[in-house]
Amino acid sequence: MLHLAGGSSGDVDKARTLVRALAPGTHVVFISVVGADRVPVVSRTDRAMFGYFADQLAAERVIAESGLPWTTLRATQFHDLTLLVARQMAKLPVIPVPAGVRFQPVDAGLVAARLVELALGAPAGLVEDVAGPRVEGMDALLRAYLKKTGQRRLLVPMRLGGRAYAAIRAGGNLAASPGTGLTWDGFLGSATALPGDKP
Ligand SMILES: NC(=O)c1ccc[n+]([C@@H]2O[C@H](COP(=O)([O-])OP(=O)(O)OC[C@H]3O[C@@H](n4cnc5c(N)ncnc54)[C@H](OP(=O)(O)O)[C@@H]3O)[C@@H](O)[C@H]2O)c1
Repeated sequence: MLHLAGGSSGDVDKARTLVRALAPGTHVVFISVVGADRVPVVSRTDRAMFGYFADQLAAERVIAESGLPWTTLRATQFHDLTLLVARQMAKLPVIPVPAGVRFQPVDAGLVAARLVELALGAPAGLVEDVAGPRVEGMDALLRAYLKKTGQRRLLVPMRLGGRAYAAIRAGGNLAASPGTGLTWDGFLGSATALPGDKP
């Protein structure tokens, strides 16, 4: 059983509901996020900006403590999500960018293939992270998107407070080693059209 249902909230409840519903002995393969255990969510600022990491860690624990055989794969951000964020941010005339934040975006197809492999295999617990081939600053990712879509925006670096931001700045959301697959530039280049991306 692949558990891939996610959202901006309620992921812990989803995990609880699922494990309650499954027959004993069902192998659950869960997708989580790289850094779930390294990004502390303590303050309200942490939660507002990076609460997703804590939710994923809590959901991981629900799966691991369910008594069911399990496998959890942590992934970095998919190119598709990065694109979604870039599109939203590009709607602003001036874009505030959290300073020092880096990502290692990954091709979702690669993650999907790895999930299939894990689902067909034996339960393996927490497996090696899956990540993209290149670590890039959020500003660089945005600039590449703006260039690709022929848009010009002013990017303003912004410093945040809190322990979660500090952990992200320290690379807590990045995999230990470079992954494979398409880079962000490659992903943007492979898109024949980026619908809705109007200069
Ligand atoms: N995107 C990333 O960069 C990334 C990175 C690491 C891990 N992940 C994890 O990967 C998973 C998929 O991410 P994604 O970006 O593909 O998410 P997504 O595009 O938001 O898709 C999530 C899917 O889950 C479904 N869903 C949500 N709540 C549900 C529920 N209660 N019951 C049944 N289905 C439900 C949604 O259905 P509806 O559309 O009908 O609501 C949607 O099809 C998530 O668990 C996410 O935490 C994502």
